[in-house]
Amino acid sequence: MSSVVVAGIGELVTCDGTGTDGLGARSGAAVVVEDGLVAWIGPQSAAPAADRRVDVGGRAVLPGFVDSHAHLVFAGDRGDEFAARMAGTPYDGGGIGVSVASTRAATDDELRALLAARVAEMRAQGTTTVEVKSGYGLTVEDEVRALRLAREVTQETTFLGAHVVPAEYAADRAAYLDLVTGPMLAAAAPYARWVDVFCEPHSAHAFTAEEARAVLVAGREAGLGLRVHGNQLGPGPGVQLAVELGAASVDHCTYLSGADVDALAAGTTVATLLPGVEFSTRSPYPDAAALLRAGVDIALATDCNPGTCYSSSMPFVIALAVREMGLTPGQAVHAATAGSARSLRRDDVGRLVVGARADLTVLDAPSHVHLSYRAGVPIARALDLRA
Ligand code: NIG
Ligand code: FE
Repeated sequence: MSSVVVAGIGELVTCDGTGTDGLGARSGAAVVVEDGLVAWIGPQSAAPAADRRVDVGGRAVLPGFVDSHAHLVFAGDRGDEFAARMAGTPYDGGGIGVSVASTRAATDDELRALLAARVAEMRAQGTTTVEVKSGYGLTVEDEVRALRLAREVTQETTFLGAHVVPAEYAADRAAYLDLVTGPMLAAAAPYARWVDVFCEPHSAHAFTAEEARAVLVAGREAGLGLRVHGNQLGPGPGVQLAVELGAASVDHCTYLSGADVDALAAGTTVATLLPGVEFSTRSPYPDAAALLRAGVDIALATDCNPGTCYSSSMPFVIALAVREMGLTPGQAVHAATAGSARSLRRDDVGRLVVGARADLTVLDAPSHVHLSYRAGVPIARALDLRA
Protein backbone atom coordinates (compact mmCIF):
# COMPACT_ATOMS: atom_id res chain seq x y z
CA MET A 1 0.00 0.00 0.00
CA SER A 2 1.41 3.46 -0.86
CA SER A 3 0.09 6.64 0.70
CA VAL A 4 0.51 10.33 0.03
CA VAL A 5 -0.62 13.35 2.01
CA VAL A 6 -1.71 16.37 -0.02
CA ALA A 7 -0.87 19.42 2.08
CA GLY A 8 -0.64 23.20 1.70
CA ILE A 9 -4.21 23.35 0.37
CA GLY A 10 -5.51 26.94 0.37
CA GLU A 11 -9.16 25.91 0.01
CA LEU A 12 -10.38 22.32 -0.07
CA VAL A 13 -13.71 21.85 -1.86
CA THR A 14 -15.15 18.38 -1.20
CA CYS A 15 -18.70 18.69 -2.62
CA ASP A 16 -19.77 16.50 0.30
CA GLY A 17 -23.14 18.26 0.55
CA THR A 18 -22.28 20.38 3.60
CA GLY A 19 -21.80 24.15 3.82
CA THR A 20 -22.62 26.81 1.27
CA ASP A 21 -23.86 25.31 -2.02
CA GLY A 22 -23.03 21.84 -0.69
CA LEU A 23 -19.37 22.51 -1.44
CA GLY A 24 -17.99 21.48 1.95
CA ALA A 25 -15.32 24.15 1.46
CA ARG A 26 -12.73 24.48 4.21
CA SER A 27 -9.28 25.91 4.80
CA GLY A 28 -6.32 24.33 6.59
CA ALA A 29 -7.30 20.83 5.48
CA ALA A 30 -5.19 17.99 4.13
CA VAL A 31 -6.14 14.86 2.18
CA VAL A 32 -4.48 11.47 2.58
CA VAL A 33 -4.64 9.21 -0.46
CA GLU A 34 -3.99 5.48 -0.34
CA ASP A 35 -3.86 3.39 -3.47
CA GLY A 36 -5.85 5.89 -5.48
CA LEU A 37 -8.63 6.36 -2.93
CA VAL A 38 -9.31 9.10 -0.38
CA ALA A 39 -8.31 7.57 2.96
CA TRP A 40 -8.55 10.59 5.28
CA ILE A 41 -9.62 14.25 5.23
CA GLY A 42 -9.10 16.59 8.17
CA PRO A 43 -7.05 19.44 9.59
CA GLN A 44 -3.53 19.38 8.22
CA SER A 45 -2.16 19.58 11.77
CA ALA A 46 -3.79 16.21 12.52
CA ALA A 47 -2.88 14.39 9.30
CA PRO A 48 -1.61 10.83 9.81
CA ALA A 49 1.83 9.87 8.55
CA ALA A 50 2.12 8.99 4.89
CA ASP A 51 4.85 7.68 2.58
CA ARG A 52 5.02 10.92 0.60
CA ARG A 53 3.96 14.52 0.90
CA VAL A 54 2.77 16.74 -1.96
CA ASP A 55 2.53 20.44 -1.10
CA VAL A 56 0.24 22.42 -3.42
CA GLY A 57 1.47 25.78 -2.16
CA GLY A 58 -1.78 27.41 -1.07
CA ARG A 59 -3.77 26.44 -4.18
CA ALA A 60 -7.41 25.38 -4.15
CA VAL A 61 -8.15 21.67 -4.52
CA LEU A 62 -11.47 20.33 -5.85
CA PRO A 63 -12.92 17.00 -6.93
CA GLY A 64 -11.90 16.44 -10.56
CA PHE A 65 -14.56 17.60 -12.99
CA VAL A 66 -16.96 14.96 -14.26
CA ASP A 67 -17.75 15.66 -17.90
CA SER A 68 -20.89 13.55 -18.26
CA HIS A 69 -21.64 14.35 -21.91
CA ALA A 70 -19.07 14.26 -24.71
CA HIS A 71 -18.81 12.99 -28.28
CA LEU A 72 -15.07 12.42 -28.63
CA VAL A 73 -14.82 9.71 -31.30
CA PHE A 74 -14.85 11.66 -34.52
CA ALA A 75 -12.58 12.75 -37.35
CA GLY A 76 -12.79 15.81 -39.57
CA ASP A 77 -13.44 19.47 -38.99
CA ARG A 78 -16.57 21.63 -39.09
CA GLY A 79 -15.07 25.04 -38.44
CA ASP A 80 -16.77 26.36 -41.57
CA GLU A 81 -20.16 25.35 -40.16
CA PHE A 82 -19.39 27.29 -36.98
CA ALA A 83 -18.37 30.36 -38.98
CA ALA A 84 -21.57 30.17 -41.05
CA ARG A 85 -23.61 29.85 -37.86
CA MET A 86 -22.02 32.96 -36.42
CA ALA A 87 -23.11 34.69 -39.65
CA GLY A 88 -26.70 33.59 -39.10
CA THR A 89 -27.15 30.03 -40.41
CA PRO A 90 -29.11 28.12 -37.76
CA TYR A 91 -28.05 24.70 -36.44
CA ASP A 92 -30.33 21.86 -37.56
CA GLY A 93 -28.30 18.69 -36.96
CA GLY A 94 -27.51 18.27 -40.66
CA GLY A 95 -23.77 18.71 -40.11
CA ILE A 96 -23.64 15.45 -38.16
CA GLY A 97 -23.61 13.67 -41.55
CA VAL A 98 -20.36 15.46 -42.43
CA SER A 99 -18.68 14.06 -39.30
CA VAL A 100 -20.14 10.61 -39.99
CA ALA A 101 -18.45 10.57 -43.42
CA SER A 102 -15.03 11.63 -42.07
CA THR A 103 -15.26 9.29 -39.09
CA ARG A 104 -16.14 6.27 -41.24
CA ALA A 105 -13.15 7.10 -43.47
CA ALA A 106 -10.66 7.23 -40.56
CA THR A 107 -8.55 4.25 -39.46
CA ASP A 108 -8.73 2.83 -35.94
CA ASP A 109 -5.34 4.30 -35.15
CA GLU A 110 -6.33 7.75 -36.39
CA LEU A 111 -9.48 7.72 -34.24
CA ARG A 112 -7.56 6.35 -31.25
CA ALA A 113 -5.02 9.18 -31.52
CA LEU A 114 -7.74 11.85 -31.84
CA LEU A 115 -9.58 10.42 -28.84
CA ALA A 116 -6.42 10.24 -26.72
CA ALA A 117 -5.55 13.84 -27.55
CA ARG A 118 -9.05 15.03 -26.55
CA VAL A 119 -8.97 13.12 -23.26
CA ALA A 120 -5.52 14.54 -22.50
CA GLU A 121 -6.79 18.04 -23.31
CA MET A 122 -9.64 17.52 -20.84
CA ARG A 123 -7.37 16.23 -18.08
CA ALA A 124 -5.08 19.23 -18.56
CA GLN A 125 -8.14 21.37 -17.73
CA GLY A 126 -9.16 19.43 -14.62
CA THR A 127 -11.52 16.74 -15.94
CA THR A 128 -10.92 13.30 -14.43
CA THR A 129 -14.05 11.39 -15.52
CA VAL A 130 -15.55 11.62 -19.00
CA GLU A 131 -18.52 9.99 -20.67
CA VAL A 132 -17.95 9.22 -24.36
CA LYS A 133 -20.70 8.59 -26.90
CA SER A 134 -20.66 6.83 -30.23
CA GLY A 135 -22.89 8.33 -32.93
CA TYR A 136 -20.60 9.23 -35.84
CA GLY A 137 -20.50 5.70 -37.22
CA LEU A 138 -24.15 4.76 -37.73
CA THR A 139 -23.36 1.31 -39.17
CA VAL A 140 -23.07 -1.77 -36.95
CA GLU A 141 -19.31 -1.98 -37.50
CA ASP A 142 -18.62 1.75 -37.10
CA GLU A 143 -20.71 2.11 -33.95
CA VAL A 144 -19.05 -0.92 -32.35
CA ARG A 145 -15.65 0.46 -33.33
CA ALA A 146 -16.40 3.81 -31.70
CA LEU A 147 -17.51 2.15 -28.48
CA ARG A 148 -14.58 -0.25 -28.44
CA LEU A 149 -12.19 2.70 -28.75
CA ALA A 150 -14.12 4.70 -26.15
CA ARG A 151 -13.84 1.75 -23.73
CA GLU A 152 -10.07 2.10 -23.93
CA VAL A 153 -10.32 5.49 -22.19
CA THR A 154 -13.44 5.33 -19.98
CA GLN A 155 -16.01 2.98 -18.50
CA GLU A 156 -18.73 5.60 -19.19
CA THR A 157 -19.51 4.67 -22.78
CA THR A 158 -22.81 5.49 -24.46
CA PHE A 159 -24.37 3.91 -27.55
CA LEU A 160 -25.77 6.74 -29.71
CA GLY A 161 -26.67 4.87 -32.88
CA ALA A 162 -29.83 6.99 -32.76
CA HIS A 163 -27.90 10.23 -33.26
CA VAL A 164 -29.44 10.94 -36.68
CA VAL A 165 -30.95 8.86 -39.45
CA PRO A 166 -27.97 8.43 -41.82
CA ALA A 167 -28.34 9.63 -45.40
CA GLU A 168 -28.53 6.11 -46.84
CA TYR A 169 -31.70 5.49 -44.77
CA ALA A 170 -33.36 8.89 -45.36
CA ALA A 171 -36.10 7.30 -47.49
CA ASP A 172 -36.77 4.52 -44.97
CA ARG A 173 -36.49 5.74 -41.39
CA ALA A 174 -38.32 2.66 -40.10
CA ALA A 175 -35.59 0.40 -41.48
CA TYR A 176 -32.92 2.42 -39.64
CA LEU A 177 -34.92 2.27 -36.42
CA ASP A 178 -35.14 -1.53 -36.81
CA LEU A 179 -31.36 -1.66 -37.25
CA VAL A 180 -30.63 0.58 -34.25
CA THR A 181 -33.00 -1.26 -31.92
CA GLY A 182 -32.03 -4.69 -33.28
CA PRO A 183 -28.65 -5.85 -34.62
CA MET A 184 -26.79 -2.58 -33.96
CA LEU A 185 -27.89 -2.46 -30.32
CA ALA A 186 -27.07 -6.15 -29.82
CA ALA A 187 -23.56 -5.64 -31.19
CA ALA A 188 -22.97 -2.38 -29.30
CA ALA A 189 -24.38 -3.32 -25.88
CA PRO A 190 -21.32 -5.31 -24.70
CA TYR A 191 -19.22 -2.14 -25.06
CA ALA A 192 -21.72 0.35 -23.63
CA ARG A 193 -23.06 1.31 -20.22
CA TRP A 194 -25.69 3.70 -21.58
CA VAL A 195 -28.00 4.23 -24.53
CA ASP A 196 -28.83 7.75 -25.75
CA VAL A 197 -31.07 9.22 -28.47
CA PHE A 198 -31.32 12.64 -30.14
CA CYS A 199 -35.04 13.22 -29.52
CA GLU A 200 -35.75 16.38 -31.49
CA PRO A 201 -38.84 16.94 -33.61
CA HIS A 202 -37.35 20.29 -34.69
CA SER A 203 -34.62 18.50 -36.68
CA ALA A 204 -35.52 16.46 -39.77
CA HIS A 205 -32.43 14.33 -39.09
CA ALA A 206 -33.20 13.37 -35.48
CA PHE A 207 -35.89 11.26 -33.82
CA THR A 208 -39.50 11.85 -32.82
CA ALA A 209 -40.83 11.04 -29.36
CA GLU A 210 -42.20 7.68 -30.46
CA GLU A 211 -38.99 6.73 -32.25
CA ALA A 212 -36.96 7.81 -29.23
CA ARG A 213 -39.17 5.78 -26.93
CA ALA A 214 -38.53 2.67 -29.04
CA VAL A 215 -34.76 3.23 -28.86
CA LEU A 216 -34.78 3.75 -25.10
CA VAL A 217 -37.04 0.79 -24.34
CA ALA A 218 -34.89 -1.49 -26.50
CA GLY A 219 -31.74 -0.16 -24.82
CA ARG A 220 -33.20 -0.78 -21.39
CA GLU A 221 -34.10 -4.35 -22.37
CA ALA A 222 -30.49 -4.81 -23.47
CA GLY A 223 -29.38 -3.82 -19.96
CA LEU A 224 -28.27 -0.24 -20.68
CA GLY A 225 -29.00 2.84 -18.59
CA LEU A 226 -30.88 5.66 -20.30
CA ARG A 227 -29.77 9.14 -21.38
CA VAL A 228 -31.60 11.53 -23.71
CA HIS A 229 -30.68 14.56 -25.86
CA GLY A 230 -33.85 16.60 -25.34
CA ASN A 231 -35.35 20.06 -25.82
CA GLN A 232 -32.27 21.39 -27.61
CA LEU A 233 -33.68 23.18 -30.65
CA GLY A 234 -37.12 24.09 -29.31
CA PRO A 235 -39.77 23.03 -26.82
CA GLY A 236 -40.37 19.30 -27.19
CA PRO A 237 -41.12 15.90 -25.72
CA GLY A 238 -37.60 14.81 -24.73
CA VAL A 239 -37.61 15.93 -21.13
CA GLN A 240 -40.96 14.37 -20.27
CA LEU A 241 -40.06 11.14 -22.06
CA ALA A 242 -36.78 10.93 -20.14
CA VAL A 243 -38.50 11.46 -16.80
CA GLU A 244 -41.29 9.00 -17.63
CA LEU A 245 -38.78 6.26 -18.50
CA GLY A 246 -36.58 7.04 -15.47
CA ALA A 247 -33.57 8.09 -17.56
CA ALA A 248 -30.51 8.98 -15.50
CA SER A 249 -30.13 12.24 -17.41
CA VAL A 250 -31.77 14.47 -19.98
CA ASP A 251 -29.26 16.74 -21.63
CA HIS A 252 -29.45 20.21 -23.19
CA CYS A 253 -32.81 21.36 -21.69
CA THR A 254 -32.41 24.61 -23.60
CA TYR A 255 -36.16 25.10 -24.03
CA LEU A 256 -38.17 24.08 -20.95
CA SER A 257 -41.87 24.57 -20.23
CA GLY A 258 -43.29 24.88 -16.72
CA ALA A 259 -44.56 21.31 -17.06
CA ASP A 260 -41.05 20.12 -17.98
CA VAL A 261 -39.63 21.75 -14.85
CA ASP A 262 -42.39 20.21 -12.70
CA ALA A 263 -41.73 16.77 -14.19
CA LEU A 264 -37.99 17.07 -13.55
CA ALA A 265 -38.60 18.21 -9.97
CA ALA A 266 -40.90 15.25 -9.30
CA GLY A 267 -38.68 12.64 -11.00
CA THR A 268 -35.19 11.20 -10.60
CA THR A 269 -33.78 12.38 -13.93
CA VAL A 270 -30.89 14.86 -13.74
CA ALA A 271 -31.12 17.91 -16.04
CA THR A 272 -27.70 18.18 -17.65
CA LEU A 273 -27.02 21.68 -18.93
CA LEU A 274 -24.53 22.29 -21.74
CA PRO A 275 -23.91 26.03 -21.92
CA GLY A 276 -21.06 25.61 -24.39
CA VAL A 277 -23.75 24.58 -26.88
CA GLU A 278 -25.82 27.71 -26.31
CA PHE A 279 -22.58 29.68 -26.75
CA SER A 280 -21.59 27.89 -29.95
CA THR A 281 -25.05 27.86 -31.54
CA ARG A 282 -26.06 31.35 -30.39
CA SER A 283 -29.06 29.96 -28.52
CA PRO A 284 -30.75 31.28 -25.38
CA TYR A 285 -29.35 29.96 -22.11
CA PRO A 286 -31.76 28.05 -19.85
CA ASP A 287 -32.29 29.44 -16.33
CA ALA A 288 -30.30 27.05 -14.16
CA ALA A 289 -30.98 29.03 -11.00
CA ALA A 290 -34.73 28.59 -11.55
CA LEU A 291 -34.22 24.84 -11.92
CA LEU A 292 -32.39 24.70 -8.60
CA ARG A 293 -35.14 26.75 -6.93
CA ALA A 294 -37.70 24.27 -8.28
CA GLY A 295 -35.77 21.39 -6.71
CA VAL A 296 -34.32 19.92 -9.92
CA ASP A 297 -30.97 18.09 -9.79
CA ILE A 298 -28.68 19.70 -12.34
CA ALA A 299 -25.37 18.79 -13.91
CA LEU A 300 -22.95 20.66 -16.17
CA ALA A 301 -21.00 19.09 -19.04
CA THR A 302 -19.21 20.22 -22.19
CA ASP A 303 -20.99 18.18 -24.92
CA CYS A 304 -17.59 18.39 -26.64
CA ASN A 305 -18.37 17.55 -30.28
CA PRO A 306 -17.44 18.87 -33.74
CA GLY A 307 -20.80 20.55 -34.34
CA THR A 308 -22.49 22.34 -31.48
CA CYS A 309 -19.56 22.84 -29.08
CA TYR A 310 -15.98 22.01 -29.90
CA SER A 311 -14.74 22.89 -26.45
CA SER A 312 -13.41 20.35 -23.97
CA SER A 313 -13.21 22.90 -21.16
CA MET A 314 -15.20 22.40 -17.98
CA PRO A 315 -13.85 25.71 -16.59
CA PHE A 316 -15.33 27.45 -19.65
CA VAL A 317 -18.66 25.71 -19.00
CA ILE A 318 -18.57 26.74 -15.33
CA ALA A 319 -17.87 30.35 -16.26
CA LEU A 320 -20.76 30.39 -18.74
CA ALA A 321 -23.13 28.84 -16.21
CA VAL A 322 -22.28 31.57 -13.74
CA ARG A 323 -22.38 34.45 -16.21
CA GLU A 324 -25.33 33.34 -18.33
CA MET A 325 -27.40 30.84 -16.34
CA GLY A 326 -27.62 32.51 -12.94
CA LEU A 327 -25.60 30.03 -10.89
CA THR A 328 -23.28 31.09 -8.10
CA PRO A 329 -19.66 30.02 -8.61
CA GLY A 330 -20.20 27.37 -5.94
CA GLN A 331 -23.40 26.01 -7.50
CA ALA A 332 -21.63 25.74 -10.84
CA VAL A 333 -18.70 23.83 -9.34
CA HIS A 334 -21.11 21.49 -7.55
CA ALA A 335 -23.04 20.85 -10.78
CA ALA A 336 -19.79 20.12 -12.66
CA THR A 337 -18.62 17.56 -10.08
CA ALA A 338 -21.19 15.97 -7.73
CA GLY A 339 -24.08 16.90 -10.05
CA SER A 340 -22.59 15.34 -13.14
CA ALA A 341 -21.45 12.29 -11.13
CA ARG A 342 -25.08 11.86 -10.09
CA SER A 343 -26.16 12.04 -13.72
CA LEU A 344 -23.87 9.03 -14.25
CA ARG A 345 -25.23 7.38 -11.11
CA ARG A 346 -21.73 7.40 -9.64
CA ASP A 347 -20.90 8.12 -5.99
CA ASP A 348 -17.19 7.31 -6.20
CA VAL A 349 -16.33 10.41 -8.24
CA GLY A 350 -17.38 14.07 -8.12
CA ARG A 351 -16.91 14.24 -4.32
CA LEU A 352 -13.91 14.03 -2.04
CA VAL A 353 -15.03 11.76 0.80
CA VAL A 354 -13.33 8.80 2.43
CA GLY A 355 -13.55 5.84 0.06
CA ALA A 356 -14.08 7.91 -3.09
CA ARG A 357 -11.55 7.94 -5.92
CA ALA A 358 -8.77 10.40 -5.20
CA ASP A 359 -9.41 12.37 -8.40
CA LEU A 360 -8.09 15.77 -7.35
CA THR A 361 -8.06 18.92 -9.43
CA VAL A 362 -5.85 21.81 -8.44
CA LEU A 363 -6.26 25.48 -9.34
CA ASP A 364 -3.52 28.06 -9.73
CA ALA A 365 -5.74 30.20 -7.51
CA PRO A 366 -6.79 30.36 -3.86
CA SER A 367 -10.47 29.47 -4.32
CA HIS A 368 -13.05 27.83 -6.60
CA VAL A 369 -14.51 31.29 -7.33
CA HIS A 370 -11.55 31.94 -9.62
CA LEU A 371 -12.83 29.34 -12.12
CA SER A 372 -15.45 31.84 -13.26
CA TYR A 373 -13.73 35.02 -12.02
CA ARG A 374 -10.65 34.27 -14.16
CA ALA A 375 -12.58 32.94 -17.15
CA GLY A 376 -10.40 31.85 -20.04
CA VAL A 377 -7.23 31.58 -17.96
CA PRO A 378 -5.89 28.00 -17.76
CA ILE A 379 -5.77 27.71 -13.96
CA ALA A 380 -7.21 24.18 -13.54
CA ARG A 381 -5.48 20.83 -14.03
CA ALA A 382 -5.87 17.30 -12.75
CA LEU A 383 -3.33 16.66 -9.99
CA ASP A 384 -0.97 13.82 -10.86
CA LEU A 385 -0.13 12.01 -7.61
CA ARG A 386 2.05 9.31 -9.15
CA ALA A 387 5.54 9.20 -7.64
O1 NIG B 1 -25.30 17.19 -28.44
N1 NIG B 1 -27.65 17.22 -30.70
C1 NIG B 1 -27.09 16.24 -31.08
N2 NIG B 1 -25.79 15.94 -31.00
C2 NIG B 1 -24.75 16.86 -30.68
C3 NIG B 1 -24.29 17.62 -31.86
C4 NIG B 1 -23.58 16.76 -32.81
C5 NIG B 1 -23.02 17.44 -34.03
O2 NIG B 1 -23.54 18.46 -34.50
O3 NIG B 1 -22.03 16.87 -34.53
C6 NIG B 1 -25.18 17.74 -29.53
O4 NIG B 1 -25.42 18.94 -29.68
FE1 FE C 1 -24.54 15.77 -27.30
